[in-house]
Amino acid sequence: MKALRVTGYGTLEDNLEFQNVPVPTINNDEVLIECISASINPHDTKLIRGDFKRMEKLKFPYPIGGDVSGVIVKKGINVKNFEIGDEVFGVVQGAIAEYESVNAAQVTKKPVNLSFYEAASLPIAGMTTIQALQYASIKSGDKILIHAGSGGVGSFAIQYAKAKGAYVYTTTSADNCAWVKTLGADVVIDYKKENYLDMLSDLDIVYDTLGGQYTFDAFKIIRQGGRVVSILPSEINKEVAKELGIPPFMQFVFSLRKSKIEELKKQKNAYYRYFFVNVRKKEDLNEIKELAENRRIKPMIEKIYAFDDSKQAFKDLAKGHAKGKLVIKIK
Ligand SMILES: NC(=O)c1ccc[n+]([C@@H]2O[C@H](COP(=O)([O-])OP(=O)(O)OC[C@H]3O[C@@H](n4cnc5c(N)ncnc54)[C@H](OP(=O)(O)O)[C@@H]3O)[C@@H](O)[C@H]2O)c1
Repeated sequence: MKALRVTGYGTLEDNLEFQNVPVPTINNDEVLIECISASINPHDTKLIRGDFKRMEKLKFPYPIGGDVSGVIVKKGINVKNFEIGDEVFGVVQGAIAEYESVNAAQVTKKPVNLSFYEAASLPIAGMTTIQALQYASIKSGDKILIHAGSGGVGSFAIQYAKAKGAYVYTTTSADNCAWVKTLGADVVIDYKKENYLDMLSDLDIVYDTLGGQYTFDAFKIIRQGGRVVSILPSEINKEVAKELGIPPFMQFVFSLRKSKIEELKKQKNAYYRYFFVNVRKKEDLNEIKELAENRRIKPMIEKIYAFDDSKQAFKDLAKGHAKGKLVIKIK
């Protein structure tokens, strides 16, 4: 079968190639999916660049692409809740391939009202947001800032926070301001022209999709007792090291370092959490399915690329200006 593979660490141009590889085998708990569509995430481009090599060394050639939709063509004997022919979506390692195997816990039935391309755009951005806003204990009436509302994560997050009854502030640049309003954002701030730090205060939640200095600055605009949830790290403290899977001894070393986040948390009596999405939370996938079927969430796709153009999709994503999700049409 034809599959996109990472051949080494470095540039997208030199380290991604299509290979002819055997169709994956499955164990008793897995299903084999005939992939119809995939979508890509910044994590994929970071993986190829080698950003995570200190935590986990990849064995090349390495399968790439997380978000998938397709049809179950084989199942293990322990898999009870799927039949051959079921249309599913979820998270695999190696979505940009004709077939991929995965533990049955990582997929669920595709929303009936969505195309395979739309369904493939949702899992990682959606699960990340559901988990982030659970950590943030979002509730109706909360004032939340969602950074980068026009990105893959942000465009889901605006809709999700509105579905939860929150009042949504978001940042993006001029070309996307009107568009993120149509997703439900109450106030849109053009980050290239305006300083959101001068405009916002007393927020209940900051959903920090940018990390670095943005994380530290989040504490300036939350109320006393507010919540900050980050999906990119700002400093490697003990909790972040644990979440990133850094070995226990190094976690201990990081725990000895002075933490700026701990200081900021204390000053604002705030809750802070950095986390890495748990792709095994099937209840989150089920929630995405329900939200889509109830039309509370609409998939936001900037472009659908042909299978052969997958490399171009990664290059476009790496520019950092996606408007919603970039999707690959495998079949
Ligand atoms: N921890 C986890 O488990 C987890 C899970 C998912 C994603 N992530 C991370 O979260 C980040 C966001 O993911 P994504 O899929 O949304 O990325 P993305 O789709 O590539 O985000 C692109 C968007 O970010 C906007 N943007 C860039 N810089 C900005 C700034 N300074 N202020 C406001 N908006 C800005 C861009 O808007 P303009 O074009 O207008 O500049 C663009 O629309 C990535 O770094 C990803 O790796 C982490």
